[in-house]
Amino acid sequence: MKVKGRFEGKTALVTGGAAGIGRATVHRLVAEGLQTVIIVDRDAEGARREVAKVEAAGGRGFPLKCHLADAEDIRRMGVVAADRFDHLDLLVNCAGIPSSGGLVEEAFLHAFEPIINIHLRACGLVTQAVLPLLKRKGGAIVNVSSDGGLRGRRGVWIYDAAKAAVIQAGKSMACEFAGYGIRVNAVAPGWVVTELHFMRAEDPERRKKELLEMDTDNCLMRRLALPEEIAAAIAFLGSDDASYVTGTCLCVDGGRVGLEIPKKE
Ligand SMILES: NC(=O)c1ccc[n+]([C@@H]2O[C@H](COP(=O)([O-])OP(=O)(O)OC[C@H]3O[C@@H](n4cnc5c(N)ncnc54)[C@H](O)[C@@H]3O)[C@@H](O)[C@H]2O)c1
Repeated sequence: MKVKGRFEGKTALVTGGAAGIGRATVHRLVAEGLQTVIIVDRDAEGARREVAKVEAAGGRGFPLKCHLADAEDIRRMGVVAADRFDHLDLLVNCAGIPSSGGLVEEAFLHAFEPIINIHLRACGLVTQAVLPLLKRKGGAIVNVSSDGGLRGRRGVWIYDAAKAAVIQAGKSMACEFAGYGIRVNAVAPGWVVTELHFMRAEDPERRKKELLEMDTDNCLMRRLALPEEIAAAIAFLGSDDASYVTGTCLCVDGGRVGLEIPKKE
């Protein structure tokens, strides 16, 4: 979908831009005129592949390999970004890993640090690392949370707590950064068909097809989301169309959070 011009001449940094929602966001922003995109991902090959597509589409892309669970690596990423770019208009904190670990499973501790570090701590550290670039001209930050951050679910308490904290942290950031002309918002996607859900399957392509065709009663739309549908919401919040929107969270969940959903017949 081409909505011309909202990011004409702008520069964005997207974490997790090598796959799934982050990748769809990169290409959505470029389709809307983004001049430069920095793709920060631990998957260096994937980031390079997406940069090649960005350049084929007429944009400029820079892959930056970074492991977001590693605070020192994030600091280094910030130094490289500051060295190469004079400002940033948009930061999308998107990278994430699958949820795991209920309280009844004693082994949940193994998941605690990776989930908290990647979903919550990295959101803060990446923001801090590139804040000087965002402050130059003002801009927007979009943090990717989850509908899980707004509901209660079994077996994913660490992930859901981290995602709730991402929404809350965004509110605090909005207060802290308003004076610099930086808006901060979150999106809370429902279930999205991305590598997160099909890459570990025995037959990823088959699993992807199943997910795309699934008739689900977990939302009013009765289907899972495409990553492009989340990217569209991220693009809205990151654009001047959302110039009076800050400190909030947009659910992009097919009608799920807080709604009565009829069960399948
Ligand atoms: N897919 C869903 O159903 C869904 C639903 C709600 C929220 N989300 C959230 O959306 C975000 C994106 O998820 P997705 O479904 O696109 O996942 P994905 O697995 O398709 O893509 C995630 C990307 O993040 C990168 N990444 C993961 N860990 C990293 C690390 N430590 N350092 C650097 N890069 C790292 C991966 O390499 C990959 O490119 C995540 O924060 C996820 O929690 C996803």
